[in-house]
Amino acid sequence: MKIGVDYYPEQWDERLWEEDADKMKEAGVKVVRMAEFAWSRLEPKEHEYCFEWLDKAVEIFAKRRIQVFLCTPTCTPPLWLFEKYPETIQVGKDGRRISIGIRGHRCMNSPVYRQKCKEIITQMVSRYRDNEWVIGYQIDNELEANHCCCPVCEEKFRDFVRQKYGTIEEVNRAYGNQVWSGEYSSFSQIRPPFGEHQTWLNPSYMLDFNRYASQSTVDYVTFQRELIHSLDEKALITTNNWFCENMPDFYDLFENLDFVSYDNYPTTVIPEDEEELYSHAFHLDFMRGIKQKNFWIMEQLSGSLGSWTPMSPALQSGMLKGYAMQAIAHGADTVLHFRWRTAVAGAEMFWHGILDHNNVPGRRYQEFCDLCETVNQLDMLDGSVIKNDVAILYSSEQEYAFKIQPQVEGMHYFTQLKAYHDAFTCLGAGVDIVNWMSDLSQYRVVVAPTLFVTNDEIAEKLEQFVRKGGHLVLTNRSGVKNADNRCIMAPLPTVFAEMAGISVTEYDPIGSKKQLLQPEGRFAEVVCRRMGEQAADRFAEKIGQSLGEKNENSINSIAGTLWCDIIESEGAEVLARYNENFYKGSAAITRNLYEKGNVYYVGTVLTRKGMIALAEMIAQESGMEYVVNLPVGVERTVREKGTDKWTFLFNNTDKEVSFSAQVINGEMAGKEYQQKLAPFEMCMLPSVIGG
Ligand code: GAL
Repeated sequence: MKIGVDYYPEQWDERLWEEDADKMKEAGVKVVRMAEFAWSRLEPKEHEYCFEWLDKAVEIFAKRRIQVFLCTPTCTPPLWLFEKYPETIQVGKDGRRISIGIRGHRCMNSPVYRQKCKEIITQMVSRYRDNEWVIGYQIDNELEANHCCCPVCEEKFRDFVRQKYGTIEEVNRAYGNQVWSGEYSSFSQIRPPFGEHQTWLNPSYMLDFNRYASQSTVDYVTFQRELIHSLDEKALITTNNWFCENMPDFYDLFENLDFVSYDNYPTTVIPEDEEELYSHAFHLDFMRGIKQKNFWIMEQLSGSLGSWTPMSPALQSGMLKGYAMQAIAHGADTVLHFRWRTAVAGAEMFWHGILDHNNVPGRRYQEFCDLCETVNQLDMLDGSVIKNDVAILYSSEQEYAFKIQPQVEGMHYFTQLKAYHDAFTCLGAGVDIVNWMSDLSQYRVVVAPTLFVTNDEIAEKLEQFVRKGGHLVLTNRSGVKNADNRCIMAPLPTVFAEMAGISVTEYDPIGSKKQLLQPEGRFAEVVCRRMGEQAADRFAEKIGQSLGEKNENSINSIAGTLWCDIIESEGAEVLARYNENFYKGSAAITRNLYEKGNVYYVGTVLTRKGMIALAEMIAQESGMEYVVNLPVGVERTVREKGTDKWTFLFNNTDKEVSFSAQVINGEMAGKEYQQKLAPFEMCMLPSVIGG
C-alpha cells in the first residue's frame, strides 16, 4: 500500500522544493506524480529541451527515498506548437478549430502532433529509464473519446466505417438510411456529426461515431504505450481516468495498460435525503472492475473544490482520511492526493490541495499525516484482492446509445447501475462492476441493467449463466435494439423474453412521477420484514385486500419511478404488480425459474426501499454473502489473501453510528460486528478463514 501526492515543481519557486520534499517525507509520503502539464518547461522552443529542472526535482525525492511517477505532458502542448502547426488543434462540431489556452485541445490523430509527442516522450523516457526512482508513466491526462472533426479525423472515421461494412450498400442497410432519404451514394458522404442538430441525426450512425471516437482514443494510448515500452520495457504504464461526458470504452482503454488509475473526488456535500444515491463506492468498484484487479487513485480529494465552479463546502473532519481509506477498502493499492499545495496561479487556484495558499500546514495536513501513518502500516494487504458474489454489468454501448436517445427525462444509463449497486452495498455485500462480456462463472448474482442495445453473444452468455444456476436480474429497456442500434421487431424484452418468461405488452415512460406497487409472495414477505413487525401485521392485512382499493398512503406501498413496463407473465411468478393507472394489476416485477437458475425482470426503477428489499430477497435466494442490520451509510468490503481476510467497515456519513450486524452466508457466516464509528471512520477487522 502506498500513499503519495501530485506535485507540480514547475509551479513553485525552486527554493521550496527541498522544504516540500522534507514535509512530505515527514508526513510519510512514498510516491509523487510529476510533470503532468510541463511541456512548455521541458521544451520551451521546438527541439530545445530543458530537463535539468526535472532531474533536480527527481533527485530531491530520490534522496528521500520517495518514488516518482512521471506523466507524458501531452495534454498541454506549448503555444509555439499550435502557432507553428495549427493543424494540431481540434475541430469542433461547428467545423471550426477550437480556441486554445486551456488544455486537451489538441487532435490526437494529427500526424504532426503525434510526431511532437514522440519527440518529447522519447526525451523523457530515455532520460529516466535507468533511474530506479522513476517507476512509471501516466499517459496524458483524463482522456475522453476523441470527438475531433478535423479533416484527418474525418478520414479516420470514414475508414472505420469502410472497414466495418465494406460496401456503401451495407452501410445504408445497417443504418436504415432509406428513412429521410439518408442513403449514401459514396463513402465521401460519410462525415463526423457536424452541426447543432445532433439529436436529429441517425442513431445507428451516431452509435458508430461514438464507437469510432472511443477506438480513436485507445489508438492514441496504444501509440504512447508502444513508444514508452520501446524505450523502457519495464516501465509501468497507466492513464488516469474519470467519468466524463464523452467516455471512452474503459475496457479497451486499459486492456494493455498495467493498471487502472482513477481521479477520485467524492462530494463534500452530504445529501440530506437518504433516498438520494450517493455511493462513491460505485465509482471505486467500477474502477476495480475494469481490469478485475486492484487499481491506483491518481488524484484524491484533499480540500474544497472550485475554480470554474463556485467552491464546495470544506472537508469535514475525517473526510480526507476516510475517503482515502474507502478507496483502499475498495481495492486501491496506491492513493495520491491532488495536490500537495493549492495553486496560487492559473485556472485551478481554488481547487484545494493539502496545504492552503498560505503554505502553513493546517488541519488537512495533520489529517493527511495521520492517513499516511495508517497506510504505511498496511503492508500485510499487499497482494490482497477483493472477491464478490455479485456483479453488475456495464457496457459502453448502452452508455452511448442512451445518450444518443434518452428514453425518459431523468433516466440515465447509470441510474439503474447505481441503484442496484447502492442496494447491494446497503446489505454489506461487495459488488463488482464488470464488462458485459466478462466471464461470469465466479458470480452467484448478475445484474444486467438496461441492455438496450443487444447482440447474440450477450443473450447467449446470460442464458448460459442462468442455465448453470445463476441468478440474473434484467430490467426495463432491455432487448430494445440490435447491434446496429435499430429497434427489434418482436415483443420486449425480445432476445431475453424466453428466459425471463414474460412479454412486455406496452410501456409508460413516467419520468419523475411515482407509481405505487403491490408486492406479492416472497417479495412481499421481505418487504414486510424490512418494515418491522408492527408494520408487517398491517401489511399482511393489506395484502389480503383487493387490488382495487386505493392505498397511496399505506405502509405497504413501495414505488417504481421513471419507467413502467407493463408485463404479461408467460410462466414467470409475479413479485409485484402496479397499483395505479390503466395498467393497475399488471405485473411490474417477475421471477422465472429457468433451467437451474432464476431470471428476475424488473419493469420499473424501484425507489430505494423497494430496491433494497429486492436485493435482500435475491441475496436470500441465491445464498450469497450479505449482512443484516448494517446502518444506512455504512459500507462493508473484504480484501483477502490466502486464508486471511480483512473486513473494512466504513461510516460514509457525518453522524456517529453504533451497530450490531451479522453476516449471513459465505465463509464468514455467523460473524457479528459490534461497532461504533465516528463520522467517516474506517475500521479494519482481520480474520483467518478456518482459524
Ligand atoms: C482532474 C485533473 C487535474 C485537475 C483536477 C482538479 O480532473 O486531472 O489535472 O484539473 O481535476 O480540477
